Amino acid sequence: SETFFVGIDGPAGSGKSSVSKEAARRLGFGYLDTGSVYRALAWFVLSRGGSTTDPAAVESGFADFEPSISLDPDVRTIAVGETDVTDAIRTPETTAAVAGVAKTLSVREKINELFRRIVADASLPGVIVEGRDITTVVAPDAPARILLTAHPDVRAARRSKEMGADDVAAVAEAMRRRDASDSTVVDFLNAAEGVTVVDTTHLNFDQSVDAVLAVVDERR
Ligand code: C5P
Repeated sequence: SETFFVGIDGPAGSGKSSVSKEAARRLGFGYLDTGSVYRALAWFVLSRGGSTTDPAAVESGFADFEPSISLDPDVRTIAVGETDVTDAIRTPETTAAVAGVAKTLSVREKINELFRRIVADASLPGVIVEGRDITTVVAPDAPARILLTAHPDVRAARRSKEMGADDVAAVAEAMRRRDASDSTVVDFLNAAEGVTVVDTTHLNFDQSVDAVLAVVDERR
């Protein structure tokens, strides 16, 4: 039977990654973090001496891009060719470069095809796919589509804790800038038709996971 597709979008600090991962674990589903693929492509373009603000460099990078990503929610590794880039994609340098990749629309279409293929080829009962445009562009027909949100102050506090950063105001500002940049490409702050909003502002981790599982249950 077909892999059950769960799309989850949302901004940084909404709890998206940790909640998606735990929900996947409990369901026995796979977990695909699409942001890590955008990051891996940014890393790859930089590693070849290119700039991600140069669409030609991003396009030619994608042509040679051979990512392998784990769908196991407990194994968060990603490689490009033979190189494990799990840590390299989280550096400030790669994080700064990813916006250029995200804005290269010709490449987004191809990356979306890659995501659809990964899910279709997975020998799993389902996959939770998280990102920015999963519910709207990658899989607008998915049986379960969720937008995870939270108040910006709560998101900044969570993000700071996650990063071990003391300067919450600086984290909030960096987050605001990345959200603003990402929002020029895709609207991930407002739910599209048929997408269930799960606002985690007043939910703890377990409650957030339960809220996601309830949506999946209802649609299965
Ligand atoms: O989720 P994460 O913060 O790791 O994503 C990194 C970047 O990748 C985002 O800031 C965004 O620019 C891009 N991205 C995207 N579409 C997705 C997932 C991530 O444009 N579906």
